[in-house]
Amino acid sequence: MKTITITKPDDLHLHVRNGAVLKTVLPHTARQFARAIIMPNLKPPVTTVAQALTYREEILQAIPAELDFAPLMTLYLTGSTTEAEIKKAAASEHIHAFKLYPAGATTNSDSGVADIKAIYPLLAAMERLDIPLLIHGEVTDDACDIFDRERAFIDTYLTDITDNFPGLRIVLEHVTTAEAVQFVQASSTNVAATITPQHLLFNRNALLAGGIRPHYYCLPIIKRESHRLALVEAATSGNPKFFLGTDSAPHLTSLKETACGCAGCYSAHAALELYAEAFERADALDKLEGFASFYGADFYRLPRNSGTVTLEKTAWKVPPTYGKGNLSITPLKANEELGWKLQ
Ligand code: DOR
Ligand code: ZN
Repeated sequence: MKTITITKPDDLHLHVRNGAVLKTVLPHTARQFARAIIMPNLKPPVTTVAQALTYREEILQAIPAELDFAPLMTLYLTGSTTEAEIKKAAASEHIHAFKLYPAGATTNSDSGVADIKAIYPLLAAMERLDIPLLIHGEVTDDACDIFDRERAFIDTYLTDITDNFPGLRIVLEHVTTAEAVQFVQASSTNVAATITPQHLLFNRNALLAGGIRPHYYCLPIIKRESHRLALVEAATSGNPKFFLGTDSAPHLTSLKETACGCAGCYSAHAALELYAEAFERADALDKLEGFASFYGADFYRLPRNSGTVTLEKTAWKVPPTYGKGNLSITPLKANEELGWKLQ
């Protein structure tokens, strides 16, 4: 049987929520990954070190006893974040970054940053204290077409941020366009990007052609085929600026399959399998280990993991939903067959 074995990977962008959803989804990630960068967009958002440490404890409680997994916490940046909190975060072994959501850009981003220029003193502090900034790179301007919002963010804000803070380590999260790929490639080694499985595997036809499929709806929205091809090229290039971040974002099925469905694709149930499919299609399975297991750790200055995971070429069918009782989460590729399976 065909198998691939790689060093245990990390998920450098993950939503696990809290409460009952956390208990349902976390085992999926803990089976596959050694560590994950945990997004702070809870309700209310995780804005302080104290809140992040409490949230970390809740996550630790949800890890199945037989699995070894480390949550790497982040803080949600707001207009009221203080330099003292940034100092505290930089000094904590458990806090690894700040996340910048432009206010209104996506799920639970209402408390995000409304005036990006106004937080430049905070970015200066992060640069000085050497704590990374993770960016949801989309403008929120109603007049800007939803398919152009990432490109507009780069032109309006990101270029200025990287010009002003050359020493700040930045991850442009879940890149979705050829322009974002080019921007990251052309920037210094302090600028990197995560790429999700859905943006590598699907273009916007999967979301919109022949019927509207809410489980393919996430933000930034899936783009046209030429952009998907640019992302595949970047992910499989061996360039260490591009690494794995699933952006797995669970929402209850009832909140996805409705007149105004939430943004987010749930992919943690089969994250590595989905990436393996994308890399295999590009004839680049030999590049999966760097993307999944090395480049993210290196960027965050974490030791590379020891141990391995093995994927085998075995077909299996993704179940229609995960979660007990009235807690139903519909995964990416529900009821469909996947070609790779984690051993
Ligand atoms: O689709 C998304 N879902 N994009 C985000 O940026 C947030 C995420 C979520 O938290 O559901
Ligand atoms: Zn996200």
